Amino acid sequence: MSRGAQSDSDTADEAVRGTCDDASICKRFAVSVGYWKDPYIQYFVRQAKERKAPEINRGYYARVQGVHHLLKAFLRKTECKCQIINLGAGLDTTFWKLKDENLLPTKYFEVDFPAIVARKLYHIKSKPPLSKPIMETHGSESLLIDAHSLDSSRYSVIGADLRNLKDMEERLKKFSMDTQLPTVLVAECVLVYMTPEQSSRLLKWAADTFPTAMFINYEQVNMGDRFGQIMIENLQRRQCHLTGVEACQSLESQMERMLSNGWEAADAWNMNTVYSCLPRVDLERIEKLEFLDEKELLEQLLIHYCISWASKDALSLGLAQTTF
Ligand SMILES: C[S@@+](CC[C@H](N)C(=O)[O-])C[C@H]1O[C@@H](n2cnc3c(N)ncnc32)[C@H](O)[C@@H]1O
Repeated sequence: MSRGAQSDSDTADEAVRGTCDDASICKRFAVSVGYWKDPYIQYFVRQAKERKAPEINRGYYARVQGVHHLLKAFLRKTECKCQIINLGAGLDTTFWKLKDENLLPTKYFEVDFPAIVARKLYHIKSKPPLSKPIMETHGSESLLIDAHSLDSSRYSVIGADLRNLKDMEERLKKFSMDTQLPTVLVAECVLVYMTPEQSSRLLKWAADTFPTAMFINYEQVNMGDRFGQIMIENLQRRQCHLTGVEACQSLESQMERMLSNGWEAADAWNMNTVYSCLPRVDLERIEKLEFLDEKELLEQLLIHYCISWASKDALSLGLAQTTF
């Protein structure tokens, strides 16, 4: 690779890493307004200087509740005797929230670029509300932690590139990943930053590696229409390219990518549908938090994101029936 090409891809990766802050800052803002509870996010990101629009907050609400719903369904079906692998986890706080809910899996793994992991570990090391829960779930041996990884009994963080599957698998195995244990992989706004070939390889690796598994993917959909094009252009202006947008054309293309890469069953819902299936009492509560002027804009936004999920079920846990 020439020097120019190398630095172009470095810049692209840097922009992708930047999306981690965007996601966490938006989540923290929505939490501060009262959309959902997350006592841990404040330790990872600063409060946004400006308010986020109500439709953005509602969109994040649906995203967080939607992914959590499917995750919890998997934890219930496996009675928590399972692994979670959060791919491109960024500054996500699910490990701590599941611990509070008494829903920790046998082991919770996170993978992200080393630079993001280094930041996450800095916060964990320096803030007792983050480090204490990890220590509480850890055995008596000393905890393994260096600049780009952490390994404890129930929680591991790995600095790796999701496009380098061999390295990632080796590192996960070194931290006791058990391929025979039911495993749920989560990619929340991550696959779209990889080429279709790279995301397909990742999906295929997961399907080939775990006989009993579920893959939960949240990202854009319906990107071929005018609204989708504007979303792409807005991100491009910030040097952030949706490299994987080809798989985000429709709910069918999302499912097809999973089914053609070794998954036995797949489903995909746009976020407008997910939103309307969230518990009525919760929706009534959050819809009172902020006045929403443009209902149509919210609907448009929600129609351009989706959750797709796929399963393989060697242990016949009924994973294919998972739904909202
Ligand atoms: C939009 S952020 C989402 C973070 C988190 N999943 C969430 O929803 O809060 C995308 C994350 O994926 C990570 N990511 C994207 N491509 C990656 C790759 N090839 N290897 C490792 N991490 C990657 C980025 O560093 C970033 O943290």
